[in-house]
Amino acid sequence: MGVGKRASLLAISWLLAASAVTPAVADAPLEEVTTARAQRQLDARIRRLLAQMTPEEKAAQLLTAAGMNIANAPDHDTRARSGVGSIFFVSKPAEINRLQKLALDNSRLKIPILFGYDVLHGLKTVFPVPIGLAASWDPELIEQTQAAAAGEARGVGIGWVFGPMLDVTRDPRWGRIVEGPGEDPYLASAIARAQVRGLQGPQLGTPGRVVAGAKHFAGYGAGSGGRDYDEANVSDAELWNVYLPPFRAAIDAGAGNVMAAYMPLNGIPAAGNHWLLNDVLRGQLGFKGWVVSDNQAVRNLLTHGFARDRSDAAERALNAGTDMEMATGLSNFQELPASLSAGRISGKRLNEAVARVLAVKFRLGLFDHPYVDEKAASDGLASRESLDLAVRAAERSAVLLRNENGLLPLDRTKIHSIAVIGPLGGSTRDPAGPWVFAENEPVLQSLADGLRQNVANGIEVSYAPGVTMPRRLIGSPIEMMDRQYSRPAPADDDSGIAQATALARSSDVAILVLGEGQNMIGEMGSRSSLDLPGRQQDLLDSVLATGKPVVVVLMNGRPLTLRGNLPPAILELWYPGSQGGTALSRLLFGDAVPGGKLPYTWPRSAGQIPTFYAHLTTHDPKGSERRYWDDPSSPVYPFGFGLSYTTFSYKAVQLDHSTIRPGASLTTSVQVTNVGPRAGDEVVQLYLHQRSGSSARPVRELKGFRRIHLDAGETRTVSFEISPEQLRYWNAAARDWMIDNSTFDVAIGTDSMAPFSASFNVER
Ligand code: NOJ
Repeated sequence: MGVGKRASLLAISWLLAASAVTPAVADAPLEEVTTARAQRQLDARIRRLLAQMTPEEKAAQLLTAAGMNIANAPDHDTRARSGVGSIFFVSKPAEINRLQKLALDNSRLKIPILFGYDVLHGLKTVFPVPIGLAASWDPELIEQTQAAAAGEARGVGIGWVFGPMLDVTRDPRWGRIVEGPGEDPYLASAIARAQVRGLQGPQLGTPGRVVAGAKHFAGYGAGSGGRDYDEANVSDAELWNVYLPPFRAAIDAGAGNVMAAYMPLNGIPAAGNHWLLNDVLRGQLGFKGWVVSDNQAVRNLLTHGFARDRSDAAERALNAGTDMEMATGLSNFQELPASLSAGRISGKRLNEAVARVLAVKFRLGLFDHPYVDEKAASDGLASRESLDLAVRAAERSAVLLRNENGLLPLDRTKIHSIAVIGPLGGSTRDPAGPWVFAENEPVLQSLADGLRQNVANGIEVSYAPGVTMPRRLIGSPIEMMDRQYSRPAPADDDSGIAQATALARSSDVAILVLGEGQNMIGEMGSRSSLDLPGRQQDLLDSVLATGKPVVVVLMNGRPLTLRGNLPPAILELWYPGSQGGTALSRLLFGDAVPGGKLPYTWPRSAGQIPTFYAHLTTHDPKGSERRYWDDPSSPVYPFGFGLSYTTFSYKAVQLDHSTIRPGASLTTSVQVTNVGPRAGDEVVQLYLHQRSGSSARPVRELKGFRRIHLDAGETRTVSFEISPEQLRYWNAAARDWMIDNSTFDVAIGTDSMAPFSASFNVER
């Protein structure tokens, strides 16, 4: 018998033995909680369990722990035996089953462990990074990718993922921009809904799906200077109008979990912010699930100079509304039983938090099915179907930023040799982007390999790195957690550049892959400059000087500054995931047509930050392009920008009403025609501008979009409803939502520079 077969038989017999363990509450399987009856049934089970629990057992349920070799931290086994609520960063089905069995065999109440993990854009099948998916402007696609990711995660035994990341970001120095939806609250909200639906399914507890953890609540994207973890000072109007809407959308879509952010929001650390976690999250946004702190954020209440000691930190976090502590090291929530005896927390609040954690375990069906089917788990990973979806997602995320003289698409019959150049072009690891770990054996290909396998027609693909990527001055969490991560030592002589340039010279076209390494972005991935790291700019200059056709393919998750002469074509591919090379080959030769659009404004340099399209009009609006005397203040590419291999024309905007009352809706529509030579996708974007009101309002705001496919010559009428939801805003003076009497200008077009071509009035 082969080793593999023996192992799987062993796994099966072990599983059969394991499933003989008596579940904690030996009742009939719980119904899906969609009716009042099912809710009552669930509440009764939770009450029965709570009544049997000691304060220590309750506190243990309120911890999600990662051992991670931290000195003095109890290991996973000890925690599992003593009834820990959740463990994170374990993703091997056999290990998950082993720990689960320890918990069910040894803990008094046999409450199953909930396993959590950072699955932001796939586990084994890797989809484009979230900012790339945002650029697809395709919520349906985003939902599909997250459903596939959820399927893989659930398959290995992960019941809860720490995503979607919904921090609106207007400062691309912040590395975590790559994990999120970009700069715009309307787009971010559509993405939030799609992500939650994809991860959780139509309701929490849908088989093969997971619980979604919307994070980081709230305002983390506004950290000072784009520095990770730093304080966020956010005005009332920005908080409600910009940072909270995606969370509202995620909660409305049923997100079961919310993660409180690391930083202090307007001076109050998020994990200890009663107003934020109660008045806003539960009161205003109606959140019903459980709140987890970010990792070590309860402990950080001391670091912030907020809490006195560990007990004070635990009490204030719990009392503020943090239900569960995430901790790599010691648990501060272990102090809660003593706090209860001393009367500093109430039994009611403790029970409330525990009940929320138990509820999700019941709803996921963990009490009835605590174990993973190990055989099915490995069979279900990286299926042909999900890899095909990864190709499609990478294609639809791509944004064509420049295409002088129609260099792209390349003509297969005229190209015989391609030079792939740049350190990222030959890397298998970097296309994954952050939050993808070697331990999950992600399916990855380098862009060069993907091209080699797909270009066809006997076209020769050669590769030269040209330069090496520089090392970071400080380690990144990915490098720290992922021991298999290593990079060649940086070289600073010119021989690599000369070699790559010679290769470009002897090829028909150079595909220059430039950007940032996987370890240069994401958590702790902030930078003070947007320049290409290392000597990539020198490489670009040298290859451009050959006069050969050059296509720059960007592999990145934030805008970068290209200096000097620009290449004739620039294709933004992001960190494209498992199938980037295949997608790139199809995009280069026109088998797929780029149709993505930027989810953020692309500044000229870091000095322009923050720069975003939905700013307020102020003094000398005509001079708004010249706010700096040494550089234009306009961006390189506006929000919503992206070219295609074809062109679209827009007719004037139509409205079905010229005047409406506050609270009423109207419909606007436009005719879009593909006037170019081939079929392609356009993202039709609706922007509104409120001319006057009880507050100054942004120059324009996105209020609708639709990605459509048009054949050459085809015309389509695209309509949008403008409802009160799109007209209301949070007024900081009135401290309330408002719809003003005003004239509203309407633009529908290809990006955020589309001209206004109609208007309507809202009149009481
Ligand atoms: C810290 C990060 O801020 C958060 O996004 C992540 O989910 C946790 N670590 C766990 O990895």
